[in-house]
Amino acid sequence: MKGIWKYEQLLPRIGSAYQLSIGEGGTPLVRSKHIGPALGLKNLYFKLENLNPSGSYKDRFAAIALSQIQEQGVGFCLATSSGNTGAALAAYSAVARIPCFLAIVDGAPEGKLTQMGAYGAETLMVKDFGKDVGVTQDTMALLEQIALSYDSVVQVSAFRYSPSAMQGVQTIAYEIAEQLGQEKAQVFVPAGGGGLTLAICKGFDRWAEVFSDYVKPTIHCVQPEGNDTIATAIRNQLQQATAIAMSTTAVSGLQVPGVLDGDEVLKYCMNNAGMGHTVQDEEVFAWQQRLALEEGIFCEPAGAVALAGLANALKNKEIDTAAAAVCIVTGHGFKDPVSVQCMAAASDLLYMENTTVLEKYLKTRVKRK
Ligand SMILES: Cc1ncc(COP(=O)(O)O)c(C=O)c1O
Repeated sequence: MKGIWKYEQLLPRIGSAYQLSIGEGGTPLVRSKHIGPALGLKNLYFKLENLNPSGSYKDRFAAIALSQIQEQGVGFCLATSSGNTGAALAAYSAVARIPCFLAIVDGAPEGKLTQMGAYGAETLMVKDFGKDVGVTQDTMALLEQIALSYDSVVQVSAFRYSPSAMQGVQTIAYEIAEQLGQEKAQVFVPAGGGGLTLAICKGFDRWAEVFSDYVKPTIHCVQPEGNDTIATAIRNQLQQATAIAMSTTAVSGLQVPGVLDGDEVLKYCMNNAGMGHTVQDEEVFAWQQRLALEEGIFCEPAGAVALAGLANALKNKEIDTAAAAVCIVTGHGFKDPVSVQCMAAASDLLYMENTTVLEKYLKTRVKRK
């Protein structure tokens, strides 16, 4: 089996009869055609996690989670999600033929909700869940109690809650290590609760344990200003991440006001010369558009956060321009149609009454370059 299961030796032990796969992992690392040269970077790469089966890197998590649920004979999947985890768990629950119950962050985007429904999951949007700290804690406590009564756990894509399934996400680092070989590198990662960043840090550590001559990349953790729980704490060399009362970023997936894996991310970055960067939402939307227009990469806003962070790092001279730079493009553009409406406006749909109108239009527009 390919994809994440290629690294079976580095994943939790799961009997081969229970290993689920619908094509997750093995995503391309593509060299930038236009943005890199425009920024003066010869070796800018995009790791296309939007190309996973449900459109985000969370499939690496869900593949392990549902394989374990199958092996342990738990008859259901119970999870919380801001959208992508839910879509991924719903897809893998469908293939495992297991009912999936998802407590969803209030305001999760349409594309992600549609997906969960299409895969047959029960989507339960709890008012103020993910926004209000009290509601969020109460909901989590309730779900944990229910899961525990069935000797199971709530699936949350963070090491704090689901350390075993998060090992699936570490495969992103194994793939980058193989794709780049010994090329010196710096990896830019978007962060909400920090689970993804921590998985990538742990993944490179594990790779270096197995291959003793491997030189680990430095990790740059990027957050929107409206959810700056980890990035500035790294810059200020703090020991602990900073919980905030309310997340104000519009970037779906990165609205995580509590500290989930933040403290652990700080430790790793401190020990590995890592750095934190913050970005404004407007910068994220602008880079999201440039990725589509200049690279043909259609991602959701969270998928452009790493590149926005890299651009700021470049301005602040906090990047080694001779080394490779990798941006993790975490989720697909179809996930959040509202966020791409402003981009789509650049090429509005023209409705033609008939082929005569179409012919007239094309004759004025189409020219040899
Ligand atoms: C598209 C996308 N990118 C990045 C992240 C950030 O992950 P984390 O909360 O683990 O930092 C998420 C989390 O939901 C996401 O959906």
